[in-house]
Amino acid sequence: MSGVNEIRSAFLDYFKKNGHEIVASSPLVPRNDPTLMFTNAGMVQFKNVFTGLEKRPYSRAATAQKSVRAGGKHNDLDNVGYTARHLTFFEMLGNFSFGDYFKERAIELAWNLITKEFGLPKDKLLVTVYHTDDEAAGYWKKIAGFSDDRIIRIATSDNFWAMGDTGPCGPCSEIFIDRGEHIWGGPPGTPEEDGDRFLEFWNLVFMQYEQVTKEERIDLPRPSIDTGMGLERMASILQGVESVFETDLFRHLIEVASSALGRGPDADNVGSYRVIADHLRSASFLVADGVLPSNEGRGYVLRRIMRRAMRHGQLLGASEPLMWKLVPALVREMGQAYPELVRGEPLITETLKLEETRFRKTLARGLGLLSEATDKLGAGDMLDGETAFKLYDTYGFPLDLTQDALRQRNISVNLDGFNDAMQRQKAEARKSWAGSGEAATETVWFGIKEKVGATDFLGYETEQAEGMVLTLVKDGKEIAEAKAGDEVAVVVNQTPFYGESGGQMGDTGNLSGEGFAIDITDTQKKGDGVFVHLGKVAKGTVKPGAAVEMKVDHARRSRLRSNHSATHLIHEALREVLGTHVAQKGSLVAPERLRFDISHNKPVSADELEQVERMANEIVVQNSPVTTRLMSVDDAIAEGAMALFGEKYGDEVRVVSMGMGLHGARANRPYSVELCGGTHVTSTGDIGLIRIVSDGAVAAGVRRIEALTGEAARRHLDEQDRRLKAVAAALKVSPADVLTRVETLVDERRKLERELADARKKLALGGGAAAGASGGAAETVAGVGFLGRSVSGVSPKDLKPLADEGKSSLGSGVVVFVGAGEDNKASVVVAVTDDLTGRYSAVDLVRVASAALGGQGGGGRPDMAQAGGPDASKADEAIAAVKAAMAG
Ligand code: ALA
Repeated sequence: MSGVNEIRSAFLDYFKKNGHEIVASSPLVPRNDPTLMFTNAGMVQFKNVFTGLEKRPYSRAATAQKSVRAGGKHNDLDNVGYTARHLTFFEMLGNFSFGDYFKERAIELAWNLITKEFGLPKDKLLVTVYHTDDEAAGYWKKIAGFSDDRIIRIATSDNFWAMGDTGPCGPCSEIFIDRGEHIWGGPPGTPEEDGDRFLEFWNLVFMQYEQVTKEERIDLPRPSIDTGMGLERMASILQGVESVFETDLFRHLIEVASSALGRGPDADNVGSYRVIADHLRSASFLVADGVLPSNEGRGYVLRRIMRRAMRHGQLLGASEPLMWKLVPALVREMGQAYPELVRGEPLITETLKLEETRFRKTLARGLGLLSEATDKLGAGDMLDGETAFKLYDTYGFPLDLTQDALRQRNISVNLDGFNDAMQRQKAEARKSWAGSGEAATETVWFGIKEKVGATDFLGYETEQAEGMVLTLVKDGKEIAEAKAGDEVAVVVNQTPFYGESGGQMGDTGNLSGEGFAIDITDTQKKGDGVFVHLGKVAKGTVKPGAAVEMKVDHARRSRLRSNHSATHLIHEALREVLGTHVAQKGSLVAPERLRFDISHNKPVSADELEQVERMANEIVVQNSPVTTRLMSVDDAIAEGAMALFGEKYGDEVRVVSMGMGLHGARANRPYSVELCGGTHVTSTGDIGLIRIVSDGAVAAGVRRIEALTGEAARRHLDEQDRRLKAVAAALKVSPADVLTRVETLVDERRKLERELADARKKLALGGGAAAGASGGAAETVAGVGFLGRSVSGVSPKDLKPLADEGKSSLGSGVVVFVGAGEDNKASVVVAVTDDLTGRYSAVDLVRVASAALGGQGGGGRPDMAQAGGPDASKADEAIAAVKAAMAG
């Protein structure tokens, strides 16, 4: 029992036997803490259980927790490769009591495990306790039988453990093993304690307090236990090797690295191999937990780790990117215990490869500059800050990489000079954006960005997180506090809220903390990477520095995810059906629907839309996982990823793929591959259903398609169905017969309309030529035949045929028909038989009639003219006016 995997199992089994719940490791990016950069201990996931804020169904637990100590309070980055025991990534084995057992039982459980189960030699063990902790000293005496000289009292913070600046804390007792005189080092508390001879491998923390603020410390509701044993350190002890890097797991990683490099480790270069092996683990686990390299926050720590490893690869003579080649070995070693490594393997590999490919372009040149600049320097000298800044700014050398590179020569870096150069550059940048014409109200965000940095976005992985309010903005100005009722913009150090971009709307939800709550109605990205939560303080008062619990509206975000993923599928289906000229011209991903504009210069037929909808739904039904990878823009485009219209891309891009193609050239290839920063469903099946509801033109050559997904799509279909059934019921046929029935009805109606029009015409002509509707029969005016009628129910377009018939019934004469239409509007037709057009012009006469009807104008030919007027009640006056005009 000494392999790393066996020790982990033995530890967990032991505590399970002793009534502990085995709990899975939490992610490296803590979800429940506002200030912590990475999970740095087993207790992090239980922080709120210790303080009583959160209840769990157990009061004893044990975990194997992945931990990173790089950046933040516990930072071992600078020690890796230089000692036998420091790692940036390690597994912490821990047992926890939440108000259950306390000091005595914790010491007893630890003692029995290490001496009985693990068989460590009692005479080589010793412990420390906090200097005032007589109680713990007493239990060690009683349980382990230690004499006073093996119980070392320490007065410093080494024996008072705290997670960070705030959080649960308490005195602790550390267990050491003496590895023998042949190794340099002294017991804890002596000047030689930093040597490797006395190895601390287990820390028992007697959690008693909560550090609420820097100044205030209160008692926990119940005394509790938090312990942490370094798995790698225990493995080195049980395997009888001097350093964690000689344990089975690290040996395997180093072997793979050395065979990739074609040279074995030796005394001079073994440090570099160790850095590579350690950094491979931390970088891979961080990527697996959603961190990607960037120039800010967590992403920058990851970048520093990766680049440092890459420099050591270069030192070992790597002529091409190395780190990515080691990923399969790591997955082999640790994938079983941490399946996220297996799931994340492609992303980890690509991320490492990309970072190294890009960094190698400047690494050699930067190292050249560095060696030139330090040519004449010797031990104890200092590199000027300007050069260190140039390496940082132009060659991508994180400061600690430069420091690491000079450490062996005992040369330091002028940090003040470095910081001055950095400030100067920021001032330049400020000047240039101040002049860039940004709206004055927006400039506040650039100042904030400079002050607090970009926001860490957690929303790909989680919809809830804790954060710390960095600033509040109201009416374009930073304010010291916001009170209930205030409309405010809130900037937090990290956020699960998606800021509107790439067509996807910003998240809504709420922020809450000690005595306050804020309803968030929108989230926007401002000032190059600052996420701004817009909302209204619902209660209490909030100030910068407050810890906040952030919750995204889950139901709304789920709909946004579905609609965004559906947009990608519809996009690809459109290209499949209409052709690859189809490009996205704009898109809106809203919670209730999606809108998608494409370049295509003719209408999309109903048949084509149906095909698009069917193909997109085929991928939905596949229920295949949606995968995200990180690549350089060029690689992504080379892989056929579609870039979004109008989006600005950084050096690295997220590439979202979904579905497996089914038809033609797309068969058996990822169906949709797009550059996209949005949030998506986990599997295509989560979309449920895609329903295209409209297609239309928005501009020349641009069509707009709107669609619904999931429940909204189902409700839409439901509504359609309900309507169809209602129509069928009204028609008294089954839904299947509705179409035939409606066609028959439409035919019948057309026939009836024709018959009705004929009948009306006949009626208007007075059933031949005699009886009038209104107005008289044919008469004689100024010696010519005259027929004047006012008719109703005849459409204006039927007045002319009516007048024609009137003419033929008169043989020779003038005909006037006035029709009353809707809203009492009149139309009038005057017809003059050909023999009389020399005497009367239909156009002149119709104008007279129109004037009497309150209108003006009118037009036509001398034999037939038409006009209108607003007042049909004046029909008789109009007829009389024509007569008068004829009479002259
Ligand atoms: N939380 C304690 C530590 O990290 C056990 O050392």
